[in-house]
Amino acid sequence: MSTESTKDRVIIFDTTLRDGEQSPGASMNTAQKLQVALALRDLGVDVIELGFPVASQGDFEAVASVAERIEGPTLCALARANREDIDRTWEALRAAKRRRLHCFLATSPLHREYKLKMSQQEVVRRAVEAVRYARERFEDVQFSAEDAARTEPEFLAEVAERVIEAGATTINIPDTVGYTVPSQYSSLIAYLRKHVRGIENVVLSVHCHNDLGLAVANSLSAVAEGARQVECTINGIGERAGNCALEEVVMALRTRHDFFGVRTRIRTERLYPTSRLLSNVTGLQVQRNKAIVGQNAFAHEAGIHQHGMLMHRGTYEIMRPEDVGFPGSQLVLGKHSGRHVLRQRMTELGYQLEAEQIDKLFEEFKHLADRKKEVFDADLEALVQGYIGPTEVSSWKLESFSCVSGQGTVPTASVCLTHTDGRKVQDAACGDGPVDAVFKAIERITGQQVRLCSYQVTSVTDGEDAQGQVSLEVEGGTRRFQGRAVNTDIIAASAHAFVEALNRMTRAPAILPTSSHAVPSMQASA
Ligand code: KIV
Ligand code: ZN
Repeated sequence: MSTESTKDRVIIFDTTLRDGEQSPGASMNTAQKLQVALALRDLGVDVIELGFPVASQGDFEAVASVAERIEGPTLCALARANREDIDRTWEALRAAKRRRLHCFLATSPLHREYKLKMSQQEVVRRAVEAVRYARERFEDVQFSAEDAARTEPEFLAEVAERVIEAGATTINIPDTVGYTVPSQYSSLIAYLRKHVRGIENVVLSVHCHNDLGLAVANSLSAVAEGARQVECTINGIGERAGNCALEEVVMALRTRHDFFGVRTRIRTERLYPTSRLLSNVTGLQVQRNKAIVGQNAFAHEAGIHQHGMLMHRGTYEIMRPEDVGFPGSQLVLGKHSGRHVLRQRMTELGYQLEAEQIDKLFEEFKHLADRKKEVFDADLEALVQGYIGPTEVSSWKLESFSCVSGQGTVPTASVCLTHTDGRKVQDAACGDGPVDAVFKAIERITGQQVRLCSYQVTSVTDGEDAQGQVSLEVEGGTRRFQGRAVNTDIIAASAHAFVEALNRMTRAPAILPTSSHAVPSMQASA
């Protein structure tokens, strides 16, 4: 049983790599997940949820591979309440030093009736059996009552009490659809603490979605009522409107220690670099006015504010930018900067690169420094994506392209792509403009037809020699996929970004049923 549930410490459970990765367009390959997991370890999170091993073979391999390489935090993976999932999750987490099984089953009337087609008694029995079975393998077992916030409180209390008896060490109360409001959610936590026998011996956890923009407020209200684990994601990424944002909940607990009286183990000065790293890896940009990590979070524009700040920072600033690792000034590298400085800067930016990755990056950096006088952090972050980006699964890569456009001619592009299976394919197409022609040629080569939903070009840094960054989103089937790339040539950046989005689409796991009917083995033992 966990001894972490001390009175005044809140366990930070990060689910960026599981619930976060379920965000449209946020899927990551194993190398990318490893970078994020290393950054989360350095940030000081207590528990990292690595994934959902039964969702796909790729998920299984990513969880297993990251579990081998990360030491320190507890490593957790998600399983449905059945023996097959639990066994498979055990396999995936085998290499982890500290491991936790996270088992979930829905409890709300809607889910019971329409999704699970199970009675209350069946839900209790299934949950108890799963937890008991999981405890035969794992010392640390978390049970989540999916859609807990819309479950009858008496029934939720019964489920919690029975899974605690069966050996659960953490009980999680998700607001799966972001429906609750702070006073209601905190009352539910207070109710459970009062009515569930044995609850004082386990960690009471919260997991809030942000559909009404209340995920952080709900989580904080629960902490005020005694919850001692908060589940959250970097930048608040996650299903639909996302999950509780780690950086916001952590800084609220720290800044308002006078009110909450609890601490976390987060190294807050790593918040900003971790947020940037995730945004670079996934291509999901952080809105400028986002609390804690947005570009404007510490910017004071109004004259009256600037005047107040000069007199006393506290007049308009409740946190110092340096407390969250917000860069005051950027270190600029140039063509005379050495390998050592480059390595150090990459570490500060949150990247843990192998020696050969640094060698490659150094070469590219020198090449870029010849074209640009000054190389900024954003340039380095753009370069490094090439080394941790999609590589290991079936994917396409841009080999070369050329295009012709101008007044009075039909824009035409010729593109050559290579595939990881060794194929090299060339094709040409016409379009409304050069970028459109390049995209059409890529579609012909890959055989994938998509709708371009958004396309943006921004400059990575200031200055005439700045690199252009293309961020785009495509729709294939019912889902959307992001691509992003940086290059001094905007058409090249567009082509790379488009290929990346199509590769993401190919890698996206199938949607997994959560219905109990898909789980014959547990029924057999029931
Ligand atoms: O939102 C949710 O209910 C979940 C559970 C699996 C914890 O993500
Ligand atoms: Zn969730």
